[in-house]
Amino acid sequence: MREIRERGGAVPCDAFMELALYHPQHGYYASGRPRYGREGDYLTAPTASEWYPRLVVRLLRHLAEHGGPLRLVEVAAGDGSLLAGVLDGLGPAGAGPLREVVAVERSRAMRVRLEALLAAASGRVVADPSSVPSSAAPTVIHASELYDALPVARAVGRGGGLAELWVAAGEGGLAWVERPAREEVAAYFGRHGVALEEGQIGEASLGAEGLHRRLLQGAAGAGLCLVLDYGYEARRLYDPRGRRGGSLTTYAGHRFGRDPLAAPGEADLTAHVNWDDLRRAAATAGWTEIGLWPLAEFLLRAGLAAELEERGLGPDAELDAAAFSTRQELKRLLDPDGMGSDLKMLVQARGGMVDAARSALRLDL
Ligand SMILES: C[S@@+](CC[C@H](N)C(=O)[O-])C[C@H]1O[C@@H](n2cnc3c(N)ncnc32)[C@H](O)[C@@H]1O
Repeated sequence: MREIRERGGAVPCDAFMELALYHPQHGYYASGRPRYGREGDYLTAPTASEWYPRLVVRLLRHLAEHGGPLRLVEVAAGDGSLLAGVLDGLGPAGAGPLREVVAVERSRAMRVRLEALLAAASGRVVADPSSVPSSAAPTVIHASELYDALPVARAVGRGGGLAELWVAAGEGGLAWVERPAREEVAAYFGRHGVALEEGQIGEASLGAEGLHRRLLQGAAGAGLCLVLDYGYEARRLYDPRGRRGGSLTTYAGHRFGRDPLAAPGEADLTAHVNWDDLRRAAATAGWTEIGLWPLAEFLLRAGLAAELEERGLGPDAELDAAAFSTRQELKRLLDPDGMGSDLKMLVQARGGMVDAARSALRLDL
């Protein structure tokens, strides 16, 4: 409230989200409390089950066999669940399939945890994607729920054009107010060919395309990028028959809510990714799209059935306690009414990784 008053009493939605999520003292992600995972407010694929990192390991092993040791850049590394699984499966960096590991994480509290995790594994931790040096080494970039955690602007269709929704701090607390749309917001909808209907709300992730382009440009040689997130292509994301009220949602205590102003700093705020932002970035950086699949299909393509078989957990395995618990965990990742279909994996590649990724993900059959 105080910061908004100091900035003239009202700020655009993206500035409000920046404060609510990333303010160094009061932001949701600034706290050392677990925000995601079983003790947190919501589950992500890496925190839901060790089978997600296991399948990433399988893919990395295949790529390293084809192109040599890899540099892994784990962006929005969070509590390190993905990295812990990868290091467990492949061993520390500098030997074997991993040449180097870089964890990128904006939250200071999470960086402390990541430094402890990577201290014995020859990895390093940085705060900002622009601190990842460009490298010609074969590079894999992985980001789970990074882009849906970026601040977004909010626009509403008005009189055949656009207005913007700002957050005002008044006597009665926080409230939405309408302002003329900023040029960059109008340009965002313009370049995606989107016209919002009267009263329809849509979010614009103003930083997503530039951030993704910077990440991709960090791989100067062969590269593979895995982005796991909730989202749609622009034509579906802004279809007025679907999300007329936009996709901005709150999460607290494993429950979702629709009032982003109710408890700033206490609840997660998230908006769906517009996959076309990441596609535009890839096109400019000279990367090729390998596929965009629901999480369940990605896991199957990455070799889930073979992985289960190799661990003695195939369809004929005896249903003992271990096999039962594996099935329960996998159900969470594969759930057609949850993560299995709502989370999508975008796979993009460059240079020698294009063919390696196609064969690893069964596109050459
Ligand atoms: C929803 S959590 C996902 C964490 C982890 N990837 C997972 O799937 O469990 C989002 C994370 O992204 C981090 N984050 C947001 N913007 C970032 C940025 N520009 N660079 C690095 N990390 C960022 C946040 O601090 C937070 O830890």
